Amino acid sequence: MAEDLQIQGTTKEEKYKSLLPQIKALVEAESDLIANLANVCAALKFGFDFFWVGFYLVKDNQLVLAPFQGPVACTRIPLGKGVCGTAWKNNEVLIVDDVDLFPGHIACSSLSKSEIVLPIYDANKHIVGVLDIDSDTYKTFDETDKMYLTQVLELLHF
Ligand code: SME
Repeated sequence: MAEDLQIQGTTKEEKYKSLLPQIKALVEAESDLIANLANVCAALKFGFDFFWVGFYLVKDNQLVLAPFQGPVACTRIPLGKGVCGTAWKNNEVLIVDDVDLFPGHIACSSLSKSEIVLPIYDANKHIVGVLDIDSDTYKTFDETDKMYLTQVLELLHF
């Protein structure tokens, strides 16, 4: 398998459409979850030049840092804390246009300006973690990101 991804298009929709089948091929070729999470982070980080892309997985009733790409980040997030902990508690996708306006936002980096957090489910529909993507510009994420990132998560088997 070729290890380099080809991202085509200029709009985010075109980029997601070009990236999705490549991520699918990448993760179908590997059964190890952590290896696949690591590659998904790299594909999204370098495909879109996001500031930070990473997974947090539920362990001991906390979100614990898992594979990511970007600067070092906080390792543990309690239920209901920050954007990630709130997305987990409320079982919903959160799109935050300006993180400074989100009560309780956990500022791992002052460069992070907006973010999207999607809950991750296992086969029994239990939340097992979140995908967190941060941008260094405001208002980066919208329904297009939500739709395509949901499709990315559906390729992974938790
Ligand atoms: N922004 C997150 C914390 C994780 S870091 O951004 C990587 C939050 O408030 O949940």
